[in-house]
Amino acid sequence: MSEDRTPRRMRVIGKESVAAGVVAVTLADADGGEVPEWEPGAHIDLVLGDITRQYSLCGDPADRRSLTVAVLHDPNGRGGSAYVHDKLEVGDLIPIDGPRNAFGLSTAESYLFVAGGIGITPLVPMLRAVDQQRRPWRLLYGGRARTSMAFAGDLAATHPDRVDVRPQDEYGLLDLDAALDALEPGAAVYCCGPEPLLQAIENACRARDLTLHVERFTPREIDPDAPVTSFEVELASTGEVVTVEESESVLDALERRGVNVDFSCREGTCGTCEVAVLAGRPDHRDSVLTDDEKAANDAMMICVSRSCTPRIILDL
Ligand code: FES
Repeated sequence: MSEDRTPRRMRVIGKESVAAGVVAVTLADADGGEVPEWEPGAHIDLVLGDITRQYSLCGDPADRRSLTVAVLHDPNGRGGSAYVHDKLEVGDLIPIDGPRNAFGLSTAESYLFVAGGIGITPLVPMLRAVDQQRRPWRLLYGGRARTSMAFAGDLAATHPDRVDVRPQDEYGLLDLDAALDALEPGAAVYCCGPEPLLQAIENACRARDLTLHVERFTPREIDPDAPVTSFEVELASTGEVVTVEESESVLDALERRGVNVDFSCREGTCGTCEVAVLAGRPDHRDSVLTDDEKAANDAMMICVSRSCTPRIILDL
């Protein structure tokens, strides 16, 4: 059930341009305390006026005095990045929720990180962590142009033998096949970036039977012909049965019944609403779980996923 989701008050203590169209925003606890602990791959919710947006943490988890996110200005976005770029100022108080992590770093023999544009943000703490663990890694980093690629210069200068910065206007599309074919057995692949890159690397990894971990900023496209039927959800703790109508999500139906469940994005990208499945088969429609995790059928994102079986029993 829901944990305490009272947002934490933070103060903006830094805002600086880190690439064309990208600002890094640094936050400290408004009352001078430590910031919450987090692991590489985690994100926080920024409460920006009346909208809430998720941004990956790109600082150092060992720094307990501040949290940093980097935000790309998206002129076609839904207002979150415009607020950060145009309105947010050093000294402002801003509520945050989290950190939460739906893109955790697993243990592997070696790592390939693939970033597209602002998708570099969750990968920066990851590659720092594996570098500290002295595990082999490479970063393949693409973007529109070199000037738009946050942290590219620092990363390439610090790790010249591990980082390949490949702006599209100089090199064309990333050569995923070459990078994947060079992997040793036991390697883990982590990717974050725009949807075409994620789809390309998903297809390439599937063809090679490689396990891929991705983080999406926007929801994966759902097959418009996918069936939408009503089904029942049973709450394991009470035996209560809730009908999920065709027009609503599991989350909607539970809220209608007064059952509080943690959530954030409501579009299947953040992982906050993940619930364990005890019986029944989910119809996974989220952008968080890997193919293997989906096949295990033991968890689902209740804001978007539905049920293949007439009833599904959730660990609620
Ligand atoms: S609330 Fe974000 S995945 Fe469901």
